Amino acid sequence: MKEILDAILAQSTQQTSPGGTAPGTAADFAALPLPDSYRAVTVHKDETEMFEGLTTRDKDPRKSLHLDEVPVPELGPGEALVAVMASSVNYNSVWTSIFEPLPTFAFLERYGRQGELGRRHDLPYHIIGSDLAGVVLRTGAGVNAWQPGDEVVAHCLSVELESADGHNDTMLDPEQRIWGFETNFGGLAEIALVKSNQLMPKPRHLTWEEAASPGLVNSTAYRQLVSGNGAGMKQGDNVLIWGASGGLGSYATQFALAGGATPVCVVSSEQKAEVCRAMGAEAVIDRSAEGYAFWGEDGEQDPREWKRFGKRIRELTGGEDVDIVFEHPGRETFGASVYVTRKGGTIVTCASTSGYKHEYDNRYLWMSLKRIVGSHFANYREAWEANRLIAKGRIHPTLSKVYALEETGQAAYDVHHNLHQGKVGVLALAPREGLGVRDSELRARHIDAINRFRSAA
Ligand SMILES: NC(=O)c1ccc[n+]([C@@H]2O[C@H](COP(=O)([O-])OP(=O)(O)OC[C@H]3O[C@@H](n4cnc5c(N)ncnc54)[C@H](OP(=O)(O)O)[C@@H]3O)[C@@H](O)[C@H]2O)c1
Repeated sequence: MKEILDAILAQSTQQTSPGGTAPGTAADFAALPLPDSYRAVTVHKDETEMFEGLTTRDKDPRKSLHLDEVPVPELGPGEALVAVMASSVNYNSVWTSIFEPLPTFAFLERYGRQGELGRRHDLPYHIIGSDLAGVVLRTGAGVNAWQPGDEVVAHCLSVELESADGHNDTMLDPEQRIWGFETNFGGLAEIALVKSNQLMPKPRHLTWEEAASPGLVNSTAYRQLVSGNGAGMKQGDNVLIWGASGGLGSYATQFALAGGATPVCVVSSEQKAEVCRAMGAEAVIDRSAEGYAFWGEDGEQDPREWKRFGKRIRELTGGEDVDIVFEHPGRETFGASVYVTRKGGTIVTCASTSGYKHEYDNRYLWMSLKRIVGSHFANYREAWEANRLIAKGRIHPTLSKVYALEETGQAAYDVHHNLHQGKVGVLALAPREGLGVRDSELRARHIDAINRFRSAA
């Protein structure tokens, strides 16, 4: 592993084009010996019942996440092995680590039934992680667009595309999986296995840990809010964003601002409100300070609280309702989200963190011609567009804190307990923060915006 790391650290500013390699580099990297094994963050199949009887909150990722030495997987056609310099924690790492709503080994078993290549994934350990920034080490048969030495980030959509269903929108492929969640060999490790059509150029002005942090949430927020497959946000829209300083929300807020819309940010503390202001948002609601209680003690929702919330939104928008609600908290907020959306507006949802059995008053939906749109991750094109905005410095990473690989349990604990802001990074092979910048001029133009989030967080 040392030889690989030395070669990457020696690359400095040699690269000639985004995703391209300097002459000779591809052959040099292809000649580097692969180690037999590498360090990876895992959950273990024989521990999936370790939290039996505990509440969700008491299930502790620090107990279930391990740092193991694991063998390098066999490389298949259309795939790439990548040396991971940095990764990040997503909420899906929390779900895997607490074995909710079900142990992710069920996904690996299903993949394992798919054929010879799928079988590699069905192991007694699951290497998690759905983001990476790193360097291609090997490519499999049939890979022409990428070569060893390319500096890359990976999006997390793994598709087989053998069925016609996925060919208009790859998210509709019946064998669509989230890499590092529904597949093995994820990014919270020193080496990762991806399909080559997950690769995208690493933004050249960012450090490894900054480049690894937007990936999953940035692409998801892009499809959910901006893409025609999601809400199709347009200039002038008012967009209510739940968890606006969190993983998804910090990118949704930036997309709204960059796209000429007005974000109405909802957060749960003054510090998080400050983070939203640091991104440029002006309309911010502190849901804790204002004490919204959408659900009463009796287990029923209280429409008076929806109304109070709607009134507050109008105060911030000059009397207007929101065109789009960017939903993900789910059960706790969904009734309010449907209520406050303007006539003809869109509630777009990609998750149900607080519970997936939603209740809302359907009269407010059908009588006001609103629509609910389901959204899930992003196709390659959408992920590419979202990454391109990062690479151009139009959208910035929202990294708040960085941990070492062996501290991933604590990083996941922070996200599970909502102690974090934006994204939490993890260093894999990178020996320290701050490495990997290839375009200092572009960085200098955006350094204030990049630093603003972290300073406020
Ligand atoms: N389908 C997909 O492709 C996809 C992709 C990414 C994420 N997700 C899912 O989306 C969810 C959020 O992910 P994330 O990365 O943004 O997580 P995150 O970084 O934890 O941010 C979520 C934010 O939502 C707010 N929130 C949480 N519970 C809430 C509640 N009961 N009521 C109101 N606000 C609440 C919190 O902000 P405040 O406390 O400041 O209000 C929290 O910081 C997770 O369930 C994740 O699994 C789905």
